[in-house]
Amino acid sequence: MTQVDRGPIREIEIPGGTRAWLVTGYDEARQALNDPRLSKTAPGLRVGPLGDDIREATFRHMLAADPPDHTRLRRLVSAAFTARRIEALRPRIQQISDDLLDGLAGEKRADLIDSYAFPLPIQVICELLGLPDEDRDTFRSWTNVIVGGPAYREQLPSAMRDLVAYTRELLAQRRERPGEDLLSGLIAARDDQDRLSEDELTSMVFLLLIAGHETTVNLIGNGAMLLLADRSRWERLETDRDLLPAAIEEFLRYEGPVAYATSRFTTEPMEIGGRPLPAGASVFVGLAEANRDPGRFADAADVDLTREQNPHLGFGHGIHYCLGAPLARLEAQIAFTGLLDRFPQMRLDGTVDELQWRPGMLLRGLFHLPVTL
Ligand code: HEM
Repeated sequence: MTQVDRGPIREIEIPGGTRAWLVTGYDEARQALNDPRLSKTAPGLRVGPLGDDIREATFRHMLAADPPDHTRLRRLVSAAFTARRIEALRPRIQQISDDLLDGLAGEKRADLIDSYAFPLPIQVICELLGLPDEDRDTFRSWTNVIVGGPAYREQLPSAMRDLVAYTRELLAQRRERPGEDLLSGLIAARDDQDRLSEDELTSMVFLLLIAGHETTVNLIGNGAMLLLADRSRWERLETDRDLLPAAIEEFLRYEGPVAYATSRFTTEPMEIGGRPLPAGASVFVGLAEANRDPGRFADAADVDLTREQNPHLGFGHGIHYCLGAPLARLEAQIAFTGLLDRFPQMRLDGTVDELQWRPGMLLRGLFHLPVTL
């Protein structure tokens, strides 16, 4: 992405030469995320060399929809993600975390991403949806490509096709043998009550799988990196566990897993933060920049585990506010408690400068996080 100018609303050029606007100020970002004149549906949107079949099977989800479709699609699954329903998952998530940490006991070194930050949320989302978790490495190879941005452009069409084929096969199997899982519930909403189309059903599974795979891993990974990069933070949290909820919010603010909200389009000429935008303009909201806006956060450039007022935009804002926020917060709480309890001596194995960030504009996360235990 090339920045053409500066300020809270910047004109940018995205790969491929398309002109777009990037919102970086905190107030402007909230305004943009709440403005119904910014739509998620773009007539004629180019999505690369994907056939219509694959596009329809992956772009008919709530995050690509405006009301009333958005409202209908979100309502179908929101009951499964309320704070109360998610809290009921605590014992199972704890068990998954304990098992993973047992697997690390006795080891001297580990890659925290591969051995913990990734398998924990994956197993949770697979169980919630009702997907066989032995398939998880296969999904990961596809979802990594799908969210990886321009670096994976060549592999994108085949990863999308494979994931759609896999999802369709899974839906066919679950139709024959329904269970108690979310997937079976969604199939019933489709087949018995006609509340969503077949493409909306595959798109929903596609969205939940990606959102459940590629985000929480980075909350655990980025948070652990911030704690280990300055070990006084790790020690502070180790002795004062009451700080953990505030620390997790600070990880979401300072190094949140979603750096940019997904693209939006102006439906009419409009202004954001006093800057005029034409109709049909492509707008990206820079959550990472807004979250470090010094006009909104005191000492915005510092990691403060005790920050009390932290209205960060790490989970977005407005009608598309993250559906999985209660789940992500619970997983992170269990994950960090487990790490601090079991491996209080943990240290980075190497320096922060050696760590490699994954490419792509949307997500912010590490390839690996080598630690000594
Ligand atoms: C730390 C982990 C997570 C972060 C930082 C995160 C962040 C976000 C953000 C920023 C958005 C809004 C995007 C936009 O407006 O363009 C979003 C939406 C969404 N997230 Fe998450 N997410 C996380 C975990 C999850 C999990 C575990 C799930 C559940 C499976 C999930 C499901 C969703 C869904 C379904 C939406 C779309 C909501 C809508 O369109 O109404 N997320 N997330």
